[in-house]
Amino acid sequence: MAGNKSLGAARVAKEDEFYTQLTDVEKEMRHYRKHFKNKTVFCNCDDPFESNFFKYFVLNFNRLGLRKLIATCYVSSPIANTQLSLFDVIGAEESKQNKPYKAVVTKVYDKTGDGGIDMFDVAELFKSGENQLCELDGDGDFRSYECLALLDESDIVVTNPPFSLFREYIAILQEHRKSFIVIGNQNAITYKEIFPLLRDNEIWLGDKSGDMAFMVPEYYEARETRYWEDENGQKWRSLGNICWFTNLDIKKRHEELILVKRYDPDVYLHYVNYDAINVDKVADIPCDYAGVMGVPITFMEKYNPDQFEILGTSDNGIVPDEYKTTPGLSKEFVDDYYKAGGKGSYKEGNPTAGVYKNGIASMVYKRIFIRNKHPEVNLIAK
Ligand SMILES: C[S@@+](CC[C@H](N)C(=O)[O-])C[C@H]1O[C@@H](n2cnc3c(N)ncnc32)[C@H](O)[C@@H]1O
Repeated sequence: MAGNKSLGAARVAKEDEFYTQLTDVEKEMRHYRKHFKNKTVFCNCDDPFESNFFKYFVLNFNRLGLRKLIATCYVSSPIANTQLSLFDVIGAEESKQNKPYKAVVTKVYDKTGDGGIDMFDVAELFKSGENQLCELDGDGDFRSYECLALLDESDIVVTNPPFSLFREYIAILQEHRKSFIVIGNQNAITYKEIFPLLRDNEIWLGDKSGDMAFMVPEYYEARETRYWEDENGQKWRSLGNICWFTNLDIKKRHEELILVKRYDPDVYLHYVNYDAINVDKVADIPCDYAGVMGVPITFMEKYNPDQFEILGTSDNGIVPDEYKTTPGLSKEFVDDYYKAGGKGSYKEGNPTAGVYKNGIASMVYKRIFIRNKHPEVNLIAK
C-alpha cells in the first residue's frame, strides 16, 4: 500500500506528512503539565517508533504521572517502521510490510539497567511483554472502530493530525468529548466547523503560534522557499502559520492583552458592510472602544475570554445579522474596488469586510469581530 505510486501522489497533494520535532512538543507540553497526572494520553496519528509525541510522553511517563500512553499509526505513513525497526523489537517478519501498530505503555523504568531511561528501555519493555505492542486489525485510521475504542478509553489526545482531515479530526474529538492538544494551521481558525468552537470558548489556541519546522518524507519535492535538506539529507519544510488547538486551560489564556492605543475615527475606518471598525494589527486595538472591532486572525493567540468576546468572522460570513449593515458587499462597492485596480475575485454579496481608504474601495483580509468587555473610558473623546 505504502509503495503504491498513486497513493504516494495523493499524499503529496494532501501534504499530510509533516513530522513534528521533539523540541516543539516539549516547548508546548510544559504549559499543560498539571493536566497529565493519572491520565491516559492517546497519540492517534503516531508511529510509536518515529513520533516525537510518543517519544516525549514515554520518556516523561513517570515525571508527568501518566496512567497509560497509547499510540497508533496509520498504515500508509511512509516512515512507519523505518528507523528503530519494530521487527527488531517484536521479531515479526510481517512487520516489514508497513503494518499499523498499537503501542500501549503502562510502565516505564530502567529495564536495561544502564542508569537512565531511554528508547532502548522502552523497546525492552515491549519485548518482555510488560508493555504491549501489537498489530491493529484495521489500517490505523483514527476513524476506525478500534482507534475510536482506544479514544474512548483515553483522557487526552495529543498529536499533529493530518492537515487535510483537520475538520473531521476535531469533530470526532468533540463528539467523543475528549481533551486535546493538537497542532493545526491558523487558517483553520475561520473554518466554518472550527470557528464556532473558538467563538463559544469550547476550544482555544495553545501557547505557541507562528513558525514551525517539520521533517518531511524523501518523496516531497524541493521548493523555492521554506524548504531545505540537512547534512544527513533529511528534507525539511517550515510553515509560518502553525498553532496549537486545545481545550485544556493554560496560563496564557488568562493574561490580559495590554492596550495602549486610543480610538480615533480617522485612523480606525468603519467597514462598509459591518457595524464595526477595522483594526490592522492586534497591538493597535484601541483600549477605549466599546463597539465591534474587526481584528486579524492572529488575535486568537492573545485572546483572553475575560477581556474580549468573539462575535463572528468575515471570512465565511459567520456574523450575527445585527452587526451587518448590508447582507454582503454591495455591487457599488465591488465596482469601485475593480475600478480602482483591485485584484482577486470578489462578488456582490461576499462576506469580506470592505472599507473606503482615502476614498478608495479596499478589501480587508479575514477579520475576527470582537468586543472589549471592559473598555476604558475615552477621556479624549469627552
Ligand atoms: C502531520 S503528520 C504528523 C505525524 C506525527 N503525528 C508527528 O507529529 O510527527 C500526520 C500523520 O497522520 C497520518 N494520517 C493520515 N491520515 C490518517 C488517518 N486517517 N488516521 C490516522 N493517521 C492518519 C499521516 O500518515 C501522517 O503520518
